[in-house]
Amino acid sequence: MRKRVIAGNWKMNMLPNEAIDFINNLAPLVKDTKNEVILCVPYTDLFYSLLTVQETNIHIGAQNMHWEEKGAYTGEVSAEMLKSINVEYVIIGHSERRQYFNETDETVNLKVKSALKHGLKPIVCVGETLKQREEGKTSEVITSQINKALSGLEKEDLQNVIVAYEPIWAIGTGKTASSEDANESIKEIRKEIENKFDTNDITILYGGSVNEKNAKELFSMSDIDGGLVGGASLKVDIFSQIANCN
Ligand code: PGA
Repeated sequence: MRKRVIAGNWKMNMLPNEAIDFINNLAPLVKDTKNEVILCVPYTDLFYSLLTVQETNIHIGAQNMHWEEKGAYTGEVSAEMLKSINVEYVIIGHSERRQYFNETDETVNLKVKSALKHGLKPIVCVGETLKQREEGKTSEVITSQINKALSGLEKEDLQNVIVAYEPIWAIGTGKTASSEDANESIKEIRKEIENKFDTNDITILYGGSVNEKNAKELFSMSDIDGGLVGGASLKVDIFSQIANCN
């Protein structure tokens, strides 16, 4: 079901005491919003964050996971491990993981399937590079990424999946895709999902330099359901303004 979601991606920022303070300060500022507010925090903040959000309307997600159930994968964390402490969401296939940690469409798909199997809701990231955009390949790239990421899923699974369209050139650069361009790309993703699953009823976010100034316009577009917010999710006053956007 399409819903307005504002997800913060803290990336490799915030110590546990900072996470606790942040959530305690954010909670009263977002308590009346109808939007779903999610914070995707580093592993070391998960447990503290989950305790701190109790009795608030803030949801907690991780930023990555391994697709295997268990075994000799030093340094990795499984879906079952995340679920065991009540993590609800997990970002899968963020472009920084694709770029620096060799994640591929195939591993993204394995992770998405494992997350769903264990009752986690994946936030699946897709998006083109600047070069691909300049070569006119945006549509081809994002439809191929979304096809592979969601391969093997059933229509019912889409209720528990969020897609985030994040053009790589817009992440952390201060360059936002224009609302029209972002909406066009998200429309393409929706069309592709409709062809594949016979429904386009899925929450799709825009990500890439979302801030308190551009959020309202982006979220007012027909196909954009909300935002995945990096840098601007690290300051309570700014993130709360974005989280309250209708
Ligand atoms: P940004 O990051 O908002 O800092 O551009 C978004 C993201 O990487 O999810």
